[in-house]
Amino acid sequence: MDNRIWRIARRPQGSDFAAALELVSAPLAPLAAGEIRIRNTHLSMDAGTRLWLTDRTDGYQPPLPIGAAMTGLVLGEVIESRADGFAPGDLVRAFGQWADISTLDAAMSGAIRLDPSVQDRRAWFGPLGMNGWTALWGVERTGAARPGEKVLVSAAAGATGILAVQIARLLGCEAWGIAGGPAKCAYLLEELKIAGAIDYKAGDLETQLDAAGGFDVYFDNVGGKLLDAVLLRMNHYGRIAVCGLVADYAAGTRTAPKEFDQVLMRRLRVEGFFSPDFMHEGESLTARLRAWYEAGALTMPYDVTRGLEHTLVAYGKLFAGANIGKVIVELEG
Ligand SMILES: NC(=O)c1ccc[n+]([C@@H]2O[C@H](COP(=O)([O-])OP(=O)(O)OC[C@H]3O[C@@H](n4cnc5c(N)ncnc54)[C@H](OP(=O)(O)O)[C@@H]3O)[C@@H](O)[C@H]2O)c1
Repeated sequence: MDNRIWRIARRPQGSDFAAALELVSAPLAPLAAGEIRIRNTHLSMDAGTRLWLTDRTDGYQPPLPIGAAMTGLVLGEVIESRADGFAPGDLVRAFGQWADISTLDAAMSGAIRLDPSVQDRRAWFGPLGMNGWTALWGVERTGAARPGEKVLVSAAAGATGILAVQIARLLGCEAWGIAGGPAKCAYLLEELKIAGAIDYKAGDLETQLDAAGGFDVYFDNVGGKLLDAVLLRMNHYGRIAVCGLVADYAAGTRTAPKEFDQVLMRRLRVEGFFSPDFMHEGESLTARLRAWYEAGALTMPYDVTRGLEHTLVAYGKLFAGANIGKVIVELEG
């Protein structure tokens, strides 16, 4: 049986993914011991995977080699298993391939069985997924946000950011977001009802930040120039939780904050964090997120593209800022 797979033909330049990835057909190999096969129903588009497409070897994970299948989080049903604890029909999430069918080592790929009673299974990519874990960890643990503090989140209308601002508010903080464009800011203010939204594309970023006042926690998804602007507006003893540096991923640049001396002047703590490091706490993080989600306190809009062949259109949205919420590819059954 043949399987369609997105294969990395060459390193992408900027956001030209169509020139770098190709959809190929390949036969399914027999399963090895410990492996499972998943019929993917959904692919999660995650901005951090852009780093895996570079040839950087100093990242938190080695690059994917040219010729390999593109990897990402997938959701679907097990159709074949040679791994303990997994049986055909199980709903699972794992790091698999951008393909109709993922073949993976269950332990190495972080495969977990999911509760099929959750009505909208896309939630396993959003509030109940890695973005949820990341947002909760970044606000509460790395950011050490305390009730009453002012928490600012960049890329606030994206998957991770939307959850981070909501979680900050649920933890009793005053949540602020930075996002690109009036539609995203309107969403944050009107739908999520956070305290304030800053449109970094409006041309008066510094004035908007000054009007907002100082911040105790910055949950940074972006890096780049925004980080410099925020460093100058942090309160003393503030914390910067470095979640992502999306401004740099496609550009191939490195953030070197000009205003780094503010870390000393304002006695800031700057700390990066990475979700695979706290996978072992996934169950307890999910339980807390699920309680909020089922109470209607944690919402997520989905930006859905249908069809494996259109995956690159969905992926490109992350780097063009064309999405509000979680970008997902839904595969036709
Ligand atoms: N540390 C971890 O474990 C972890 C886990 C998950 C995600 N992350 C990080 O979280 C961030 C968001 O990822 P996501 O998958 O949830 O994507 P997302 O926020 O749904 O989409 C990416 C958003 O980033 C913004 N953006 C893109 N290019 C930008 C640029 N040059 N300057 C400023 N903003 C830009 C865009 O929003 P605007 O229109 O507002 O610009 C875009 O909508 C990424 O940095 C990712 O690496 C980290």
